[in-house]
Amino acid sequence: MRYDFTSIMDRHGRDSVAVDAPSGAAGKTFFGMELPFGPDSREKGFDPIPMWVADMNFPTVPTIPQAIIARAEHPAYGYYLPRQEYFDAIIRWHEQRNGVTGLAREHIGYENGVLGGIVSALQVLCAPGDPVLLHSPTYIGFTHCIEDNGWDIVLSPLRLEDGVWRIDYEDMEEKIVRRGIHAAVFCSPHNPTGRVWERWELEKVMEIYKKHDVFVISDEIWSDLLLDGHRHIPLQSISQDARERTVAIYAPSKTFNLAGLIGSYRIIYDRYLRERIARVEASTHYNAMNVLSMHALIGAYSPEGMEWVDQLCEVLSGNVRYACDFIDARFPGVRVIRPQGTYMLFLDCTQWCAEHGKTVDEVLAAGYKVGVIWQDGRPFHGPCHIRMNLALPLSRVQEAFDRLEKYVF
Ligand SMILES: Cc1ncc(COP(=O)(O)O)c(C=O)c1O
Repeated sequence: MRYDFTSIMDRHGRDSVAVDAPSGAAGKTFFGMELPFGPDSREKGFDPIPMWVADMNFPTVPTIPQAIIARAEHPAYGYYLPRQEYFDAIIRWHEQRNGVTGLAREHIGYENGVLGGIVSALQVLCAPGDPVLLHSPTYIGFTHCIEDNGWDIVLSPLRLEDGVWRIDYEDMEEKIVRRGIHAAVFCSPHNPTGRVWERWELEKVMEIYKKHDVFVISDEIWSDLLLDGHRHIPLQSISQDARERTVAIYAPSKTFNLAGLIGSYRIIYDRYLRERIARVEASTHYNAMNVLSMHALIGAYSPEGMEWVDQLCEVLSGNVRYACDFIDARFPGVRVIRPQGTYMLFLDCTQWCAEHGKTVDEVLAAGYKVGVIWQDGRPFHGPCHIRMNLALPLSRVQEAFDRLEKYVF
């Protein structure tokens, strides 16, 4: 079956932060974060093309609304127990997509969100104010959830080597030793660079973590969104030690566009760690599954869901190819490293801005003016960068790049 990745969905008035926030309709904050938009600055005639927050402008796989509707038709939504089917769906998904073996119900725990899961794990792994290692550039949500809870982020910058983002092993080890770090958040695939880490890279980071007794929270929320045939390797599959020192967090939310339903989960194999973290999760009194999001996950992690994701990855690979080729050919001075996973581009506008005497604020504003709603890369630690979401029908990506060529670059 072929699924629909070409129709343009009208999301206006449908509770979508991606399209309603830039027009001011959704207020000024989003989950406590200040939204980057002032009053709508679009010129007449330019409809908004949402290319910022990480959700998608595709209708999800039909088995998800079918599962939600089937459950919603039963008019009782009282306290409930998670079904075995929910756990079976997760186990099957990881077996079939990532070759995971030995995963059982007891290793899986529900999380309201990936960021909530990170905070619960850090509460067990860190003393107040402790340093936490992260690679930069880094996802803005990590910065907020770690700093808001009083821990100290220590950044180890990724390095560009022959056009590939690489981990600087010496730098990370030096910082781990000097700062006495025992907790790290690892992002795999990496947002915002789109790196899909290779086995030897994962082995090398795990060696360093093991050597210095660092526990790892591996955020693998993007692990289904792989471009051009790249393969995801779960960090826990690297070695027995990695399996036990890693808290891995997943969700169907990026993969199937379910962020508004809330529903992530973590996998922890080590019993001591799992029971300590489960205690913290329970003590918040709000880390509870939602019956409709449970059914959504069952609809997602299905044979149709697998087929849909495979097609989605082809579409995203095509969009990324189109955008990167366009930038390379027509925006001299703008640098983009081709992502291997995710649907995000991280544009480095340093050279273009220097050559044209412009600031990144002016570039961003010029995009907003013509309806290209992209995102400031500075909160992701890209000094003159813009983050761009390409999870839209190709015709919308083409329209955005035509406008950028005509009016911005
Ligand atoms: C790397 C990464 N982790 C976590 C999240 C957010 O996850 P959640 O909404 O489940 O907290 C995102 C969203 O973009 C993300 O990119």
